[in-house]
Amino acid sequence: MKNFWLNATGKDEYDKRNKGVRPGECGHKKITFLFDSILEIMISYKKLGFVNTKKMLADAMKGHYAVPGYNFNNMEQLQAIVTACLETRSPVILQISKGAREYADQTLLRYMAQGALEMMKRLAKEKKLKPIPIALHLDHGANFEIAKDCIDSGFSSAMIDGSSLPYAENIKVTRKVVNYAHKRNVTVEGELGVLSGVEDDVRAEESHYTHPDQVVDFVKRTGVDSLAISIGTSHGVYKFKPGIKPHIRLDILKEIEKRIPGFPIVMHGSSSIPQEYVAMANKYGGDLEQAVGVPGDQLREAARSAVCKINIDSDGRLVMTGVIRKMLAEDKKIVDPRKYLGAAREALKQMYMKKNREVLGSAGQV
Ligand code: G3H
Ligand code: 13P
Ligand code: ZN
Repeated sequence: MKNFWLNATGKDEYDKRNKGVRPGECGHKKITFLFDSILEIMISYKKLGFVNTKKMLADAMKGHYAVPGYNFNNMEQLQAIVTACLETRSPVILQISKGAREYADQTLLRYMAQGALEMMKRLAKEKKLKPIPIALHLDHGANFEIAKDCIDSGFSSAMIDGSSLPYAENIKVTRKVVNYAHKRNVTVEGELGVLSGVEDDVRAEESHYTHPDQVVDFVKRTGVDSLAISIGTSHGVYKFKPGIKPHIRLDILKEIEKRIPGFPIVMHGSSSIPQEYVAMANKYGGDLEQAVGVPGDQLREAARSAVCKINIDSDGRLVMTGVIRKMLAEDKKIVDPRKYLGAAREALKQMYMKKNREVLGSAGQV
């Protein structure tokens, strides 16, 4: 046991911290050292260079813009997100869902995020730019165990999505994650109200708007740092019924803001589904009729108010799909994935830059 602790931190470090007192010599010191050592074995996001979302969201609240929460599952998406945010001078929250962890492997994804951060620092130096703040965030954490696992492996922020649970259970699991996360300075996003569409393990056919009357109680009892609400957005590319004008309930958002002024609100399901890419995908073999998203102007209005984080995943999927379909259809001899993935990556980067500049207002904020 003694050797283990000595090996874990090094003898000199051990002696420095414990002023020469070894385990067994002093009970209190031994316990303190044991706790410190356990924390050291877990990977700290600070050592990796990530930041939590506290300051990011507070700045967004003051500056009347929203920080992008962009999901990634693969290298090209990650490169596009990070370079777009660096070049537009936007903070960014890199989001990993449970599905992403399963698809790309949880260990690999975490190292990819770390690699992207190092790439960003190098590019910033080359371009003589200040590095941008990057948070690594678990999207739609379905239970305490997943959140804990991510926090222990270097995430700086975690969402616990108890929105499909009965209210009391949502509070209980969210509180548990907050207690664990806050000891490690990791920020937590909770969710109240249900979005329709696919949310990993959380699948809902119908949305239930967030009740403004519940938010104060939920925030107080859970201690969350930000709250995802349901005001008419939904996940995926099919957000609104055919023939219905896309519309989100900014009136509910206003009511929520009145109840908890200055508290950061998160909007999920906020892809706009650019119609040029729907048309591109359909022209080259796709069948995405009636794919409609949240209009950019409504997102911009939300971002000017208490909405400090806006989640976008489907737009990236659509852009990639459209470009890859086009490339493969136009050049039947392509065999090098770098050709079509590279083209998709460039189109993605342009889309994220446009989003930061014209929708979220996050461009130029760092
Ligand atoms: O909120 C849902 C995100 O778009 C993640 O989707 O579960 O397919 O990775 P996914
Ligand atoms: P979209 O499906 O609208 O991109 O929403 C993504 C999201 O909310 C991720 O949590
Ligand atoms: Zn979501």
